[in-house]
Amino acid sequence: MASTTKGKALITGASTGIGAVYADRLARRGYDLVIVARNDKQLQELANRLKANTGRSIELLQADLTNASDLKRVESKLASDPEITLLVNNAGIYANAKLADHELKSIDDMVQLNIVAVTHLASIAAKAFSARRKGTIINIASVLALAPEISNATYAGTKAYVLALTQAMKVELADTGVRVQAVLPGATRTEIWERSGGDINALPAEMVMDAGEMVDAALAGLDQGEVVTIPALPDAGDWKRFEEARGALGPNLSRQHAATRFKQARPAA
Ligand SMILES: NC(=O)c1ccc[n+]([C@@H]2O[C@H](COP(=O)([O-])OP(=O)(O)OC[C@H]3O[C@@H](n4cnc5c(N)ncnc54)[C@H](OP(=O)(O)O)[C@@H]3O)[C@@H](O)[C@H]2O)c1
Repeated sequence: MASTTKGKALITGASTGIGAVYADRLARRGYDLVIVARNDKQLQELANRLKANTGRSIELLQADLTNASDLKRVESKLASDPEITLLVNNAGIYANAKLADHELKSIDDMVQLNIVAVTHLASIAAKAFSARRKGTIINIASVLALAPEISNATYAGTKAYVLALTQAMKVELADTGVRVQAVLPGATRTEIWERSGGDINALPAEMVMDAGEMVDAALAGLDQGEVVTIPALPDAGDWKRFEEARGALGPNLSRQHAATRFKQARPAA
């Protein structure tokens, strides 16, 4: 049993999948936990198991993060508990539909959970952690942020948002003592597939990672100081070159005049 604590980690979507593995690994690393999700029974079972295995203190916060008043309760906890030193912004849903076929209510729920709740909690953590000059914010994005063509427009769009949010937060939080990380899992064996009517077994086995291996790699990336961690990517140099190419666009993205190729001959007077 661990006797010291690193503070508390607040983990959204901790009842199953990637969030539940983060809960396990962070408790073993010496964090007390605040675990958030809708399914109280699953949260209670996880808390009982982790308390028995690690001796850490575990608080349950049952909340539907698509519901404004529930989200407010989680925001209040994050803002008011000075022992919270780590946020894992993990709760997310996938909907298996093209934009044109997507029910607007389902789009709203996905945007509310994958974007609005993530942003509110990141904002509150950024403020609280900056004031204490200490803390870590982990945002769970997806490799689909980089490969929207193989997903659907809304889900990929929400995950591209999470990646951009994190990259901009890194700049905004420089010199505050607050660390940020975006994690971009590939296909990971969790309930999200069944929940959205998908079948992970339809993918080639060599494309699918177990949630435990994914989270362990993401935490190793955090320990190595990565801002963006792609657990499956064999050569970190590929990401470095991608970022360098993006950076090279920088000086030319905003200029006084349009590029020559867009200049048409002026019509004769
Ligand atoms: N699995 C993959 O292949 C994969 C790949 C890339 C990225 N990701 C991302 O990884 C994150 C975790 O997903 P997962 O794969 O672990 O899926 P999962 O097993 O379905 O877990 C999702 C978690 O979010 C919670 N949740 C869902 N709706 C919620 C709501 N309205 N309010 C509060 N909590 C809610 C769920 O708990 P309750 O139902 O109890 O609320 C559950 O704990 C997501 O952001 C997902 O987009 C997953």
